[in-house]
Amino acid sequence: VKGLEGRYEYWEKKLQGALLFLPDKPEETVESTLRSLWCTACGHPVSAQKALGLTSLPALDPLAEEKLASLVEQRVQGKPLAHLTGRQSFLGLELMSGDQALIPRKETEILARTAMEILARVAAEVDHPLVIDVCTGCGNIALALACNVQGARVFGCDLSADAVSLAGRNAELLGMAGRVVFRTGDFLAPFETGDFLGTVSMITCNPPYISSAKVEVMDKEISGFEPRLAFDGGPLGVRLLVRLLTEAPRFLVHGGWLCFEVGAGQGAVMAKRVERTGHFDSVQTVADASGTPRVVIARRAQT
Ligand SMILES: C[S@@+](CC[C@H](N)C(=O)[O-])C[C@H]1O[C@@H](n2cnc3c(N)ncnc32)[C@H](O)[C@@H]1O
Repeated sequence: VKGLEGRYEYWEKKLQGALLFLPDKPEETVESTLRSLWCTACGHPVSAQKALGLTSLPALDPLAEEKLASLVEQRVQGKPLAHLTGRQSFLGLELMSGDQALIPRKETEILARTAMEILARVAAEVDHPLVIDVCTGCGNIALALACNVQGARVFGCDLSADAVSLAGRNAELLGMAGRVVFRTGDFLAPFETGDFLGTVSMITCNPPYISSAKVEVMDKEISGFEPRLAFDGGPLGVRLLVRLLTEAPRFLVHGGWLCFEVGAGQGAVMAKRVERTGHFDSVQTVADASGTPRVVIARRAQT
């Protein structure tokens, strides 16, 4: 920030102590917040993650500084950073973000990375493997898979037409509109056709998995700005997870993979439930850095 030290320090001081950082957005700090708001004010919106990697910041003219003051104020009042910048980074992809869909979380990169590794192995053996990302939101997982695994044919779907519209715009932004198709509908209903039944190599899903009671007491920065549909998993939080175990087997080819995210504390129970369906083998969990299982993977049994 050479030459801009005075103004940078001024705004840094304004933010210090005025911001509350949520644990599910570990990439947000005073530095990444100020850098991304600064760039946004100058007409070059970037995510917190991308802002940290920039070697210089644009010059801040008086008009841009007025804009920065307004952005800082809105952030201090609790508006999510990704809604102010309109950007969120996911596995290195710079995506558009807004109130149409959940802001992709860093923790979901565990699911996307795990799915990517498995899909790369599948793609080495199967031509153009078919993938469905159900509950796709802004399309982050579907797009990460399509961008990183050559040849994969990726579909995403969501009950929210607003989320699907944002996902489509993200596909265009990344130049992936021809490779990833997004559909609107309830869970796997948009794929109830012969093309998909028994032919899908991988289903990924980051469903709503928070109990309705917990949704009521979520931090205002989340509940006040992000869609409730993205969080509310019913009275026990597992309504969509249970549907996934029941509905996914019909779509998966034998040997195909189911990969899904679970809430902290749900991993062991959900892995057991997957085993008990009798439709899967190789059931495993993947843990986060603290050792908490956050992803379940399972292979569609041959029989
Ligand atoms: C936790 S968010 C995940 C969004 C995105 N995949 C991500 O990882 O950031 C859950 C998503 O499920 C969608 N959803 C909720 N109920 C659904 C249903 N019955 N059928 C399809 N999608 C649903 C919500 O609209 C929301 O986009």
